This record gives sequence, C-alpha cells and structure tokens, in this order.
Amino acid sequence: MSISGATRVAGVVGRPISHSMSPILHNAWLAAVGLDGVYVPFSVQPGRFVAFVNSLRGGTVAGLNVTLPFKGEALALADETTFRARGAQAANVLVFRDDGTILADNTDGLGMLGAFAEQAPGFDPAAGPVVILGAGGGSRGAAAAFVEAGCGDVRIVNRTLLKAQEIAEPLGATAFALSDAAKAFEGAIAVVNATSAGLSGSPALEAPLEATPQGAVIMDMVYKPLKTPFLAQAEGLGRQTVDGLAMLIGQAVPSFEAFYGQAPPAGVDVRTLALKALGL
Ligand code: ATR
Repeated sequence: MSISGATRVAGVVGRPISHSMSPILHNAWLAAVGLDGVYVPFSVQPGRFVAFVNSLRGGTVAGLNVTLPFKGEALALADETTFRARGAQAANVLVFRDDGTILADNTDGLGMLGAFAEQAPGFDPAAGPVVILGAGGGSRGAAAAFVEAGCGDVRIVNRTLLKAQEIAEPLGATAFALSDAAKAFEGAIAVVNATSAGLSGSPALEAPLEATPQGAVIMDMVYKPLKTPFLAQAEGLGRQTVDGLAMLIGQAVPSFEAFYGQAPPAGVDVRTLALKALGL
C-alpha cells in the first residue's frame, strides 16, 4: 500500500479496537480496486469520543465505522440520521461532509440480512415470524431491519422482559421473557442470537432451539468463536445456520461505499482473510 498526500482516509473507532477485523476487510478492498485510500483503527478513550469526532468535521476523514461502546453517542452527535439508525438507536457509520455536517447511518441490519442472503439463499425475511434473542443495540438494529424488510411478526426474547418490551413496542413487535422462548420459537423461520452470551469466555445461551421448526434458519451475531455453542446446538438439531462473520462483512460493504464512493470490488475473498486473522 502506498500513501500519498491525497490519500482518502477512513477508519473505525472503538475501545478496545485492536481486535477489529474492519481494517483487514477495507484495506483488502482498497488494494484490489487500486484506490488511493486507507482505513485505520482509532482507539479513543471513553469521554473523549465526541471531541474526537467533532475535530474531524469538514471532511478531515471521509468517514468512520463506530463500534462498542460509542454507537449511541455517534447517533446523538450527528446532524442527520437515517431511518434505520434511528430505529436501531445506534450508528455504526459516520459520514463527514465537506460542509462540516455529519450523517449517521446503521448498516448492521443490512449486514445481518446480507449474511442470510449469502449463507441461507432463498431465505425471505417477509415469509414468517422471526425471533431475536437479546435486547441490546444488536437486537434493536436486527428488529428494525426485519421490520423494514417486510417481516410482520418480529418476536423479541430477553432475560429481562422489560428491555424486550421497550424495543418491541415502537416497532409493533412482540416481547417474550427468555423463560417463554419455546413459545416464541413456534413457527419461526429464523432465530437470531443478539445477546452477548456465547462470546469467548462467557457462558453459552440456554435456548430451547428444539422448539423451532426443522426449516428455521439459526444465526449468531457473535463471530468469536465462529461456531458458537448456540450455532453448534442448531447444527446438532439439523438446522441451517448463519454466522456472525458473514454479518460483519455484510455491514462493511455499504460502509465502504459510503466512505470511498464505490462498491467493494467483487472477487476479493475477504472472508478467508478474516478467518486467517481469527486464526481459523
Ligand atoms: P449489545 O452488545 O447488543 O448492545 P448489550 O447491551 O451488552 O448488547 O446487551 C447484552 C444482551 O445479552 C442483553 O439482552 C442481555 O440480557 P439482559 O438484558 O437480561 O441483561 C443478554 N445476555 C447476556 N448474557 C446472557 C445470558 N447468559 N443469558 C441470556 N441473555 C444474556
């Protein structure tokens, strides 16, 4: 990669950030397309995020992906927000315009739907009930994306029922307590784990996946490990699965377009690069 005085800079901001896969994906695409651009990680201390982003107004950088724990603050500081970012109440993309304004978007939901399209071809989000486990930022984005994709029966299941109700109500979705998960799974065409359970080092999620129909597609947003205990359980039941790495790549595609003004080039096997970086 060669950096010139005209290099277009974008990046990802979070804390911690050193584990981020995004620089690997974006820089591979930049190299393949021969674009004078670079994508770098920014580690920002809590409490300094807003000052950092405001200092970049006016196009100092083309854009930023935003990851934990700053997705809520990113939405709040933007001058303009997309419908899907407001629905998710979180932004994972900030675009810096020349006039000094910032547009906040959320491509996590698109990434999730893209992951289904890739790993469960033929899946139609509008064809039946879908279940989302968890009630954090990931869950909100997923619920908004399914509603936007035409799903008329979104069910949100959470250990703390009140948090599921808060997400469900404005979207016309239904909330269930985790103890009622089997009821929520009845007739479901998809189940998405958007809880933090199953992350390396945390306990696995206890969910009665056997209550899902045989044809249900089971997805996990977690990609470390790639095959979470939840996905292993689904596989053991013969269910089709979709992994979190496909979602990560799926959210990066529209981010790249927003930062560099063109779609990522086809034919770059970024999944293999990411798997290598994950040691798989
Ligand atoms: P996000 O990263 O999506 O913003 P978060 O705000 O950290 O998520 O929320 C984590 C989610 O995982 C919550 O829905 C949490 O349930 P509670 O709201 O009841 O706390 C859920 N979660 C975490 N560990 C869990 C476990 N072991 N079993 C069930 N749910 C769990």
